Amino acid sequence: MSQQADNQDRPWLDPDAEPFIKVQGVTKKFGPFTAVDNVDLQIYRGELFCLLGGSGCGKTTLLRMLAGFETPTSGTIYIDGAEMSQVPPYERPVNMMFQSYALFPHMTVEQNVAYGLKRDGVAKADIAMRVSEMLKMVELTPFSKRKPHQLSGGQRQRVALARALVKQPKVLLLDEPLGALDKRLREQTQFELMNIQDQLGITFVVVTHDQEEAMTLSTRIAVMDEGRFVQIGTPTEIYESPDTRFVADFIGSANMFEGRIVENGADHVVVRVSDPRIEFFIDHGMSIKEGTKVWIAVRPEKIKISKNAPTESGANQIQGTVLGVGYLGNLSTYRVQAGSAKVVDVTHPNQSRPKGDRHAVDWDDQVYLSWDPSSAVVLTK
Ligand SMILES: Nc1ncnc2c1ncn2[C@@H]1O[C@H](COP(=O)(O)OP(=O)(O)O)[C@@H](O)[C@H]1O
Ligand SMILES: [Mg+2]
Repeated sequence: MSQQADNQDRPWLDPDAEPFIKVQGVTKKFGPFTAVDNVDLQIYRGELFCLLGGSGCGKTTLLRMLAGFETPTSGTIYIDGAEMSQVPPYERPVNMMFQSYALFPHMTVEQNVAYGLKRDGVAKADIAMRVSEMLKMVELTPFSKRKPHQLSGGQRQRVALARALVKQPKVLLLDEPLGALDKRLREQTQFELMNIQDQLGITFVVVTHDQEEAMTLSTRIAVMDEGRFVQIGTPTEIYESPDTRFVADFIGSANMFEGRIVENGADHVVVRVSDPRIEFFIDHGMSIKEGTKVWIAVRPEKIKISKNAPTESGANQIQGTVLGVGYLGNLSTYRVQAGSAKVVDVTHPNQSRPKGDRHAVDWDDQVYLSWDPSSAVVLTK
């Protein structure tokens, strides 16, 4: 693929691409409390962008500022080239789907979806056509005459989505859109949401506290903590190359070791950890001085576990004792005590069936853990 074709899917890599939403130095204070703290953000047309973070980190507040329901204390928001400070919510090219879907209980599905168009004075025939198209898209046509209380949670979620989309906004803002659904339905609905977004080409900005959801849905993710962005990147970048310990720990799980850089070569780095004693050999150079304190993150699925000693001793391995085994069917998790106190988590897919109830690695086994030189991530903060 040429660089240019490549960048069509990833406009954030193209220095000439114009962002569709531009947030510049935006802060929101409630009294003395800073809910959103001087954030910068650029979202491109057609993206499915996730704001991800724990409860109270400022996701909803930022979304509400994009929608125009909150005014920034300072900073500027541009949408589709226009500065938004004087533009009221109903004149912005955005629509918001709220956390509680806020459907009208006395109206049918059809009437709920038609409501906004009716209020805008759209012609009757147009309304009927657009509503019926939208109900088809979210697969609710058979339910068009029902009232919200006659629907399941997933169906109600789709009515809310249809109601937001029928107005053909350029941007749809979704606040925890799948929060009310149970796990299985949520996973299924994630794919429906992606399909609909793909068909319509509308820019979606989704707020979620669920990292798996953000990983599944997004073109890019902004990880938030205490009103700030700690990292913005594609799901792969955020998972494989977290910038900080917070991100490494928040997205998936990570074994964290504290050590020092003892060797800094052009194409490799060696980090020594003292308890448990491990030497990490990392197969790329880094601009960090020898002697610097660093942290190493290793994902549980990147660690190999075996009862056989590795053929060579040296870097990227450690011996330990199995403290616990969790058999999840598709994979097993191991808690391995290494050194005096450190517990290392390892996950391993179960590619072959266990013989009866006997597992290849079991409680109290002495095991060796090892990993590739490319698997460990060096973090400085
Ligand atoms: N209208 C408000 N008045 C005072 N504090 C608020 C208001 N709205 C939100 N906050 C506070 O701002 C912080 C961020 O809230 P919010 O954006 O809703 O977080 P999130 O959506 O990430 O859970 C929270 O501590 C919340 O209590
Ligand atoms: Mg919220």
